[in-house]
Amino acid sequence: IINDTLSYRPSYHFTTDSNWINDPNGLVFANGKYHLFAQYNPFGDKWGHMSWAHATSDDLFNWQQQPLAIPEIKNADGTTTMIFSGSAVVDSFNTSGFGKDGIAPLVAVYTSHIDSAGKGLRQHQSIAYSTDQGKTWQQYENNPVLDIHLSDFRDPKVFWYAPEKKWVMAAVKPLEYKVQFYTSKNLKQWTLLSEFGNIGNTDKIWECPDLFPLTIEGTNDKKWILSLSGGHPQKSFLAVQYFIGNFDGKTFTADKLSYPLYIDYGKDFYAGITFNNIPSNDGRSIMIGWANCWSYANDIPTRGFRGAYTVPRVLTLKNTTDGLRLFQQPVSEITTYEKEIFSEPGITLENTARNLAHVQGTSLDVSFDLETSGTAGISVLKSGNEETVISFDAANNTLSLDRTRSGDTSFSNQFAGIEKINIPAGKNKISLRILVDKSIVEVFADGGLFAITDIVFPLKNEGGIAFFANNSKATFSNVQVKEIKKTIH
Ligand code: FRU
Repeated sequence: IINDTLSYRPSYHFTTDSNWINDPNGLVFANGKYHLFAQYNPFGDKWGHMSWAHATSDDLFNWQQQPLAIPEIKNADGTTTMIFSGSAVVDSFNTSGFGKDGIAPLVAVYTSHIDSAGKGLRQHQSIAYSTDQGKTWQQYENNPVLDIHLSDFRDPKVFWYAPEKKWVMAAVKPLEYKVQFYTSKNLKQWTLLSEFGNIGNTDKIWECPDLFPLTIEGTNDKKWILSLSGGHPQKSFLAVQYFIGNFDGKTFTADKLSYPLYIDYGKDFYAGITFNNIPSNDGRSIMIGWANCWSYANDIPTRGFRGAYTVPRVLTLKNTTDGLRLFQQPVSEITTYEKEIFSEPGITLENTARNLAHVQGTSLDVSFDLETSGTAGISVLKSGNEETVISFDAANNTLSLDRTRSGDTSFSNQFAGIEKINIPAGKNKISLRILVDKSIVEVFADGGLFAITDIVFPLKNEGGIAFFANNSKATFSNVQVKEIKKTIH
């Protein structure tokens, strides 16, 4: 593993030891461990030869990479089947019959992508299974299990729908901006239930759907969240949007809200999906996204690896003055790795900046409440003019992340830029929690109502921090800076 400063390898975000990754796949809790699979190129650090890498963890932070789980398949006719994105389930009732000796099989449902030279592309859904906790996998002999004869039909997310003891799959027809729902009793035969689509953001093709229930905080009412990857509020980029509604085992109906809504407003949160099979006494909905963007993903200047995942996030559903909204926070397991290095009850600044010279760090969890009537915020990964700036503009009701001077931006003319989110008007106070990790900045604002994930490539890498207030007086209260180390403090 290349681990020098400019490899940009994050310390507490998931990466594979080497090579390329994109979407998280098959997130599942099984036999007391979290399993993560990844769209992975075993042969290089650019997209290609898509296969599923595998890693396991007890706590969602400390991941052990396992042997390659599902490699691309060389077919007898000379074509290759790549293993595109999908999900994994624990087949506890052995509905598939793949289990043996009382061991519930782990079943992966993925998109089999064939490029049949001359005959064009084909995408269908296939399955593979493991009876040794994901170490070795067998392909089902009658694959594919779902073929509707399209070139674009992918990213199956399968879950157990307990009320009717059946499997449900969400998959996308990307070019039609449609999610289709299918059902099966055995993971092998699938029938269409319904379709949902053509609403919200349709600027980009739709990919990587997910459907999961959440209880509205403070009530016993349940809603279903449908999320999918596609367009970003800034047209040429990518994001994950979501809908809130009901699912009756057949049809998803979206509540009337002002869509599109986004899980994360940064440029580097894509292909997010949630874990399957989280025990009911835990009950969390935990999502991981790919911290990258197709516009420049193959060109980012990392060394020894290319691609990282966001921290696992707990999703909750709360009532706000604008209606129901998703909230998110890093899973609490992160605190195991944190050590407080600075705290102060209040810092007040007026038209000035304050460098926290003694609290540098490239792996930090910084939180504070910010009150101002003008523009104020914080710079992280700062060294001289190089900085990533998070600012709250109370007069114009915006929150932004500026990476124009964040370091190396030269590898793509799409990269340098500013994310700007409109926040509810009339607010002059906002909470901010900022996770910094070498080349990833994740912002959780307003209690987790807004998230912004952006990757950055500092050249100086000193990890300075500065608070600032521009044309305003600002108070930063409950300031806490924690260092995050992958060894337990
Ligand atoms: C999303 C995606 C998926 C596809 C996979 C291929 O990033 O395009 O739709 O299954 O990547 O690697």
